[in-house]
Amino acid sequence: MAMRAGAALGLALIGLVLASLSGSCHGTLQVGFYNGKCGVSDVEAIVAGVVKAQFRKDPTIAPALLRMQFHDCFVAGCDASILLDGKSTEKTAPPNLSVRGYDVIDAAKAAVEAICPGVVSCADIIVMATRDVVSLSGGGQYKVETGRQDGLVSLASNVNLPGPSISVNDSIAAFARKGLTVSDMVLLLGGHTIGVAHCSLFQDRLYNFQDTGNPDPTMDRSLASALRSRCPNQQTKVDNIVNLDQNPASSSIVDNSFYKQILARRGILQIDQEIALDKQTKDLVGAIAGSFDFSARFGQAMVRLGALQSGSPGEIRQSCRAINTARTLPTSKEEQRTGQMAWMGQTRWGGGDLRALSIHKRGSSN
Ligand code: HEM
Repeated sequence: MAMRAGAALGLALIGLVLASLSGSCHGTLQVGFYNGKCGVSDVEAIVAGVVKAQFRKDPTIAPALLRMQFHDCFVAGCDASILLDGKSTEKTAPPNLSVRGYDVIDAAKAAVEAICPGVVSCADIIVMATRDVVSLSGGGQYKVETGRQDGLVSLASNVNLPGPSISVNDSIAAFARKGLTVSDMVLLLGGHTIGVAHCSLFQDRLYNFQDTGNPDPTMDRSLASALRSRCPNQQTKVDNIVNLDQNPASSSIVDNSFYKQILARRGILQIDQEIALDKQTKDLVGAIAGSFDFSARFGQAMVRLGALQSGSPGEIRQSCRAINTARTLPTSKEEQRTGQMAWMGQTRWGGGDLRALSIHKRGSSN
């Protein structure tokens, strides 16, 4: 009898190990997590319906949400911490000031709450909505894992996103710190196949690259000249935008054209151009540019990005912009301290502090 119980336990353990190794499930995340959790309603279809309607009105929500997922997941995991309003929350950090699409997430959340309150996390809505806009932009439909919780902590000081002039080496290291490979990095930078960048973020490349007094020699001359008229070198209040994918026929389509452009030295951001030139990444860039399976590989990389988790306590938020009522937080000062210490101990991506608890609770005024 004892032997049979031991064997059963052994099998269960093997099953658990296999499940955790299989590609369709990361930790507690799984494809179809919400199946059956809202009666007969299909949560993913509700989100998709809202996203599709919004995309029809404004297709630029596609790059906006794609960037939002990166900025959420890369900072303390995919926990919707980027959505929290409040003083000094992540959305107030400089790299996030031009992040858009919060209204789309609010609309999707309102739609699921109306049918199935308190079940679907805002973190999952970001990931589902991003999958939907990628597909609507021609990028194919990848299956997303769900089952995330929304974080309780959001601090501008935690925002450690790479800047546009980061070197390939430093970028590889930044992705590696999140458990993402060089190949993940090159594929995910393919997110720059849609969307725009402000002149101020690459202007140095046009006029005075690395204090040489000259343009970046790695940029195609005719592109540099066209960009100089779009991004004049004088102080003006206007910060123009240019497409990240310089193929005009494809700048709103999720495809491999971005890689062809950077091979032709027509990258906008310095890091985009450098992955086409650096020996650690250029072969992969060439392979993706010449391949037909970018969409599928990009989808897989997005799933790996979506698997980043903080391991810290979470909840299903009622409003994506605020944590739930104080009852979800430790009540006494001492409990708050202990809870926060536990969070800091578990996270792989650095600390935070009690200021995090000053983020807006639901119902607090702006
Ligand atoms: C080393 C990594 C990265 C750097 C340094 C970087 C940097 C930037 C910068 C500087 C912009 C322009 C922002 C602006 O002008 O307001 C931008 C835009 C964008 N980024 Fe990235 N990015 C990186 C990785 C990613 C990844 C992994 C994704 C998605 C998978 C992504 C998706 C986007 C999108 C879609 C836009 C356009 C946003 C829009 O049009 O609203 N980026 N990125």
